[in-house]
Amino acid sequence: MTAQILDGKAFSARIRDRVAAHVARLRSEHDLVPGLAVVLVGEDPASQVYVRSKHRQTVEAGMASFEHRLPDDTTEADLLNLVHQLNNDPQVHGILVQLPLPVHMNASAVIDAISPDKDVDGFHVSNVGLLGTGQNSMVPCTPLGCLLMLREHLGDMSGLNAVVLGRSNIVGKPMAQLLLNENCTVTIAHSRTRDLPEVLRRADILVAAVGRPRMVQGDWIKPGATVIDVGINRIPEGEKTRLVGDVDFDAANEVAGAITPVPGGVGPMTIACLLANTVTACCRTNGLPLPEGLTV
Ligand code: GUN
Repeated sequence: MTAQILDGKAFSARIRDRVAAHVARLRSEHDLVPGLAVVLVGEDPASQVYVRSKHRQTVEAGMASFEHRLPDDTTEADLLNLVHQLNNDPQVHGILVQLPLPVHMNASAVIDAISPDKDVDGFHVSNVGLLGTGQNSMVPCTPLGCLLMLREHLGDMSGLNAVVLGRSNIVGKPMAQLLLNENCTVTIAHSRTRDLPEVLRRADILVAAVGRPRMVQGDWIKPGATVIDVGINRIPEGEKTRLVGDVDFDAANEVAGAITPVPGGVGPMTIACLLANTVTACCRTNGLPLPEGLTV
């Protein structure tokens, strides 16, 4: 038997519908329009594609989108100035500075200059600390998307063994924290973990976020496990290229109980959760109830 496919494209569309419905209520009942500011420094082609998608989806959800494109040679001081302006702009409820930043900038200093209440990426140290202590925080978009998919598929995750493969600040660490908050028994594995297949085989929930194409083999997966593949790796195939995850999908599909495909799994959830976080930030700032099903 093959695994159930967890369709992130369909699920993210339902999240965006919920966001749009909440935005419509904020407009009609409170005369509020949630606003998202996205800052892109330089010409990185992948970042340009992401920023365009973010703008389009923000507008489609009925929110205000403020795009700031700065040249590659912008100084850190000028970028910090813009962040301060956005922090003080009442029309802006969420701020995202697209990463990676040019090498002459200190990304941590820039992220920590964003007001924690507007930090829709959830990367500010205050939000990291709040999440780590189980308090209300802005939650990074990709792990939030993974968690919403896991909740939808599994419901109560209490007592399950969860293994997160990867220890990045953007995905692995916050993902582990979220699973711990769901009462899972959590292991963070990474490229230096000894007996990695053995560790992964204990996972009822496996989240792969290591950035290595098809690293996770079929026989590293516990039969019936739920597999969330965060990897987006472009590999050559003949004259063209193709996107693959961190998991060998065809092999895992024979063993897992459920699995996210690449593309069409976690990927589309990230921007949907960015929109959700912007609505959450707008509601918190205005002392309004948070949208249901869009936060943790
Ligand atoms: N670049 C790639 N992914 C992300 C993300 O989630 N947030 C930001 N700010 N930049 C990114």
